[in-house]
Amino acid sequence: MNDLRDRLALGTGASAGIGAATARALAAAGAEVVLAARRATELERVAAECPGARTLVLDVRDAAAVERAAADLPLDIVLANAGLAYGVEPLQAGDAQEWSAVIDTNVKGVLHTLRAVLPGMIERGHGDVVTLGSVAGRQVYAGGAVYCATKFAVKALYETMRLELCGKNLRLITVDPAMVETDFSRVRFRGDEACADAVYKGMTPLTPEDVADAVLYAVTRPPHVNVGELVLWPTAQASTSLVHRSE
Ligand SMILES: NC(=O)c1ccc[n+]([C@@H]2O[C@H](COP(=O)([O-])OP(=O)(O)OC[C@H]3O[C@@H](n4cnc5c(N)ncnc54)[C@H](OP(=O)(O)O)[C@@H]3O)[C@@H](O)[C@H]2O)c1
Repeated sequence: MNDLRDRLALGTGASAGIGAATARALAAAGAEVVLAARRATELERVAAECPGARTLVLDVRDAAAVERAAADLPLDIVLANAGLAYGVEPLQAGDAQEWSAVIDTNVKGVLHTLRAVLPGMIERGHGDVVTLGSVAGRQVYAGGAVYCATKFAVKALYETMRLELCGKNLRLITVDPAMVETDFSRVRFRGDEACADAVYKGMTPLTPEDVADAVLYAVTRPPHVNVGELVLWPTAQASTSLVHRSE
């Protein structure tokens, strides 16, 4: 059932973390993968682990570049995954430039990606559209105002597409993980390794491979099955603000 031969997949944010793990999982199942992100060296490193992979140096904030990148790709699967957060300061202490980077990447980047790929999928009469949301798009937490707002927006895009694309034979899927150990916290804490490590102290977070496995599950169901929403929690995490940690 996990046979993705003859399927072409595009993943944004494929140079690290969840995007890289998902690219590896899709490639291992036989898909041809196109890996997109800003860092060429990291993309090449991931591509070396994905037979037949192509790389695209791409900033999803650049609408025209995303449009050009997707123009000639007859995609079967898209993973709109590129995303980030900055800081855990309360709203009133936030930095406007960082807000713009997060909103432009997590919301407008997803919009650019979807607009670039949907017309082709509609025309070809099939396609799997996977948005990488978060439990932060379902429950807010203190210190997460802007990041949570962007992930609530991603959930709104997923829900709107379900209505607008009904009857087009596209499958809309949102994969919404809680804590996953990736570079996410290093980026969030602006390179401070100690702060990033503390996020996962005394608990076992999800791995990027756990999330990749969920994406693989969703896109390998029979054509009449649209998995829809997958919410993944570490066993030790009950909500966005309650985590059990060992001493
Ligand atoms: N880690 C978690 O706990 C967690 C939980 C729930 C949801 N998520 C979501 O999962 C997604 C992936 O995050 P991750 O945990 O895998 O973090 P990560 O390891 O930091 O990976 C983020 C990826 O996004 C790419 N990216 C960032 N800005 C970009 C831009 N403007 N254009 C193109 N690519 C860009 C990065 O590549 P370049 O720097 O090379 O561009 C990188 O490949 C995000 O949407 C995040 O919000 C993460």
